[in-house]
Parts: sequence; C-alpha cells; structure tokens
Amino acid sequence: MSTENEGKIRIFDTTLRDGEQSPGAAMTLEQKIEVAELLDAMGVDIIEAGFPISSQGDFEAVTQIARRTKNAIVCGLSRAGFKDIDRAGEAIRGAVRGRIHTFISTSPVHMKHKLQMGPNAVLDAVGASVARARNLTDDVQWSAEDATRTEHDFLCRCVELAIRSGATTINIPDTVGYTTPQEYIELITMLRERVPGAENVVFSTHCHNDLGLAVANSLAGVIAGARQVECTINGIGERAGNAALEEIVMALKVRRDAMPFATNINTTMLSKASKLVSNVTGFPVQYNKAIVGKNAFAHESGIHQDGMLKNVETYEIMRPEDVGVHATSLVLGKLSGRHAFRDKLEALGYTLEPTALDEAFKRFKNLADKKKHVFDEDIVALVDDEIVRHADDIVIKSLKVETGIGIKPAADMTLVVGGVESSTKTTGDGPIDAIFNAIRSIYPHNAALQQFQVQSVTEGTDAQATVSVRLEEDGRTVTGRGADTDTLVAAAHAYVTALNKLLVKREKQVPEVLTVAR
Ligand code: KIV
Ligand code: ZN
Repeated sequence: MSTENEGKIRIFDTTLRDGEQSPGAAMTLEQKIEVAELLDAMGVDIIEAGFPISSQGDFEAVTQIARRTKNAIVCGLSRAGFKDIDRAGEAIRGAVRGRIHTFISTSPVHMKHKLQMGPNAVLDAVGASVARARNLTDDVQWSAEDATRTEHDFLCRCVELAIRSGATTINIPDTVGYTTPQEYIELITMLRERVPGAENVVFSTHCHNDLGLAVANSLAGVIAGARQVECTINGIGERAGNAALEEIVMALKVRRDAMPFATNINTTMLSKASKLVSNVTGFPVQYNKAIVGKNAFAHESGIHQDGMLKNVETYEIMRPEDVGVHATSLVLGKLSGRHAFRDKLEALGYTLEPTALDEAFKRFKNLADKKKHVFDEDIVALVDDEIVRHADDIVIKSLKVETGIGIKPAADMTLVVGGVESSTKTTGDGPIDAIFNAIRSIYPHNAALQQFQVQSVTEGTDAQATVSVRLEEDGRTVTGRGADTDTLVAAAHAYVTALNKLLVKREKQVPEVLTVAR
C-alpha cells in the first residue's frame, strides 16, 4: 500500500447487503437506490449494494446502483461458486469502478458443519474463486468467513493463496461477534507480519456486534494496520448488527489525537443517513444511540444544563451540527407555497422528483390544515414516508373508520393492488384490528403480526404518530412504518408498507450451503 494512503481509512458500507440481511429489514429497489445515492454523496468509498445471485431483486439493485453511482466503488457479494461470481461480475459491469467480494468459511466449525468440506477443498475454492473474479474485474476482495475462529496457520495459507490469486483487499470478518479488541489487533498484526505479499493488499475489518464490541474491534483492527472498515448505517445487520458507520467515523474524527486516521465522510450528512435508513427499513433508532440517537445531544440534568450554558465543552465532545443535527425550528404554515416547501426540503437535504414533490406537497398542506405548528421533524417524517410509499404494489386509496363507546369498530377501505381497485368493510376487536382485517380481506396472506408500536414525532396532542409494524411469513420478517397525525391512518400505512416489503422479500432465496467453484 502506498505511504500517501497510510492515514486514510476506506469506509466500506454494507447497509444494503449485510444490513438488509437483518431480520425485518427489506428495501425496495427505489429505496436502495435512494440510500446508495446518499452514501455516495456522503463520501462512502465502497458501497456493497447486494448479493446478486440471491435474487433477481438483488441483482437488479446492484446493476442499477453500479450504473448510477458517480464516485464510490460499487461492490457485489458472491460465495465461492463460479455461478455466484459470474452473476456478481455481470451486476457490477456498468460501474465506473466495480468490485467483486467473494467469501468462504475457514473456521473448523464452519468447514465441517456448514460447508462439509475439508481444508484442502476450501483452499482449492479460495484459489479458484479469486482467480475467476479477477478475470472479471481488477478489484477483488476476498473474505475468510468466521476468520476470528480460524486456526492461524490455516488462515495464513488461505490469505496467501487469495493474494497470489489476485485479491486486492483481504477482509477478516468477526462473523459471530466473538473477538476482543486485543485479540483482533494480534490477529491482523500476525497476518500482516506472516503472510507473503500482505504489504501489497488492503486489510479490512468486518465486525459483528453480538457482544457489543463491533466498533471497538473495528478500531482495534485499524490500529493494527487495517485500512478498510466495513460497517452499516445505524449498525443494522445480522443478529445484533454490524459496526455502526457513524460511530466509527466520529470516533476517528473526534479522537484524531489518539488515532491519527481520516475518512472521506462528510459527517454533517450522518443524521440524515440514519433517518433515511431507519425509515426505509422500519427499524427505529434507539433514543440513546451514540451519534444519531434522539438523546445523543440532549442534556436533562440541571447540573449538566448549567455547565452547558457556561461552556458547551463541559459536557459536549462534538457539536450536534458536526453530524447534521440542527436546533428544531418552526418551519412552514398552511399559507406556505410550493416554492417555500421545496426550498425547505432542499435545506433539509431532499431533492424530490416532480411527481413525488407534488404528492409530498399535497400531504404537507393536509398536515398544515390539521396541525398548528409544523416542525422540521414533521417535514422529514412526511417526506421519508412519501419516499417509502413511492413505488409500492399495494396502495391505500381510501379509509374510513367507525369507532367509539358502544360501537363495533369497523373499517371501510379501498386498496389498489397491482393496479386493480377493491373495497371492503370489515369489523374488528378495535379500530386497528378492523383496519388490518380489511387489508387481509382484500389482500389475503398468511403473515403474522409480530409487533405493533406507536411513537410521536414531536410534542403535543396534534403531533404526527409514527407506527411500526412487524410481519412474519415462513421465517421471513419485514417491518413497515407509517406517519400521520391520525394514528389509525399511520397504522394502515405501516401495515401496507410491511406487506409491500414482503412482496420484495418473497422472491429472495439463498440456500445455506454453497456449491463450491466450478
Ligand atoms: O459476517 C460475515 O462474515 C460476512 C461475510 C460475507 C463477509 O458478512
Ligand atoms: Zn457480516
């Protein structure tokens, strides 16, 4: 690696791949494109856009993102089989800079029980898969799945072979979130010292958060010489998730004195990226989440507030503006016009297509009629909701709900499913139950409701409600969100959004065990 890049950490974002693999998170093509555009604008170096062989939807997403992305390298994941690799190669073909990321398990437990392959067969697969990928692109990343539980001598042999076969980035995943910072430092140091050719490749971290150590382990990897960090927005990902991008980036920025490394990330976009990913996945961000949580810059105790008023440095190690958090402002009212609305959206970082802008403006007018004060957060909730609903197969045309004391709650609903309009009137144990029964009656399905949550966007009885709904069908889970001043309407939108995501997820099938190279 050249010396001029020694202090530079490449940020490899896998929100659209490992993040989307987490139970409940599914995104439509449009949502993935929206997220990728934001990641590219924010300065992410590599976007892992999906796993092309896993479904037509993933293939399409990687292909589209590869064609549209201006700056970042666009990467497609593949197992070691040639069909996987060729499909990934096809998907990234249109990219200005494309990468194939191929992986295979190297730990004894994975080789024996998951792959049912011996070490020699795995070594063969490493050489063959990297060489195959290298025929399709010059930028090949190889990962040793479950590297942190792999025997050192065997890992060295695999890494050496991957480098000799043409890999340019070597990723050392802590797949099960088991390692500790000290152990990870020793592992990466050992590989860099022992493997011939290690000086010619970039080492990469990929840490899962099962013990809450993903960010600490990733930073330990950087200290040991890794120059690429794999991470996701809000830390979403398999099980407890991956290292959170915003935490890695801000730790490196705020503690440059202790870790002399820089990233290309425009940190003022972190808050917006967090909100967008939360919205499209339906995963709420916990209030006390570092960097992007609602309370990350809030000071409640009197002593803290007093200190802050005297000097912000008493309790603040970074400024909210550094991550794109601004004081809440009263924004628009019911007399505000389309131009003012569009200007406000641009100030908040949104540029909508004309039809989406028209739709969002209509909803804003509606909201301003119902709600005295419209805040930035209201606009963000409304527009994010609009982006989520934009390209759906199932759309709510109308909804009327009867409820009250002594009345059997009933929902009168019209849905448009795949362009065909249908109406029904159903009752339920409560108004929400009646609405969900109506949806089930027009669009029959077996998905079970696993979770139903309501939160308010701002303060006050006229605040918008955000409803999250989680559905499960045949082991697949999806989450949908909806926002409205009317909680019942928000609930209907949340359920329909989850159903739309289920349609996306139904086509995705990745067999657990791979057919290895050839
Ligand atoms: O966690 C993991 O090992 C992975 C690999 C596919 C890189 O996600
Ligand atoms: Zn992973």
